Amino acid sequence: MTKLIVCNWKMNLGGADATDFLPALNFKSHYNTARLVICPPYTTLALVHDFIKHQNLRCQLGAQDCSAAAKGAYTGDISAGMLKQLGCGYVILGHSERRLHHAESNRLVKEKATQALAQGLTPIICIGESEADYKAGKTIAILENQLKGSVPNGNVIIAYEPIWAIGTGKTPTLEEIDAVHKNIASILEKMGHNDTPILYGGSVNPDNLNQVLPLPHVGGVLIGGASIKPESMNAILQEVAL
Ligand code: PGA
Repeated sequence: MTKLIVCNWKMNLGGADATDFLPALNFKSHYNTARLVICPPYTTLALVHDFIKHQNLRCQLGAQDCSAAAKGAYTGDISAGMLKQLGCGYVILGHSERRLHHAESNRLVKEKATQALAQGLTPIICIGESEADYKAGKTIAILENQLKGSVPNGNVIIAYEPIWAIGTGKTPTLEEIDAVHKNIASILEKMGHNDTPILYGGSVNPDNLNQVLPLPHVGGVLIGGASIKPESMNAILQEVAL
């Protein structure tokens, strides 16, 4: 199965930094086991789009959020249609940093995902439990609630990102990751979503990538910190090209 490698630059690599960063990456002419998606901040989308096009790279473009509205008086917001026009194929929605810092509810995430689908973008909907919920054994219940609340009908991708694993260097065990993904798949099936790719995110790096990626229920990875440093990103590109 081809697996998806989604790079979430977060609020890093604006114009000039991205201009330095992109040529330092050793993109491959083909990836045996993976498809690559880069999600830069809004202001770098056009730059990355042009780079991919001119270098003829096997890589797709995604954004990190979009508005729930199609257009209108929403100062500061960016619509899914605008992202589509910029060449995006994907949009990350409901990342825990947005749920936390922008108080995004499941309902809002679902509205955004519905809007993204209407504009022809594939939403990558993030779900994940806190460390307290993980320790209390509530992971599946939390994820089920997030899935039921934030996933609309249509073809979506789910990213399972334990909040306590993001940017911390801590990860669940491989057995835990695969078991949680299996549970997510069965919840999704009951909701009428079959064969939904389920990505794992949270402290993925070149060292653990080749352990996480082959897990049977893992459809790919969402990578933050390791995707914005040339050394680790090049190691990741090398690994998925093998
Ligand atoms: P990380 O971030 O790889 O730096 O843990 C992942 C994410 O937040 O998407």
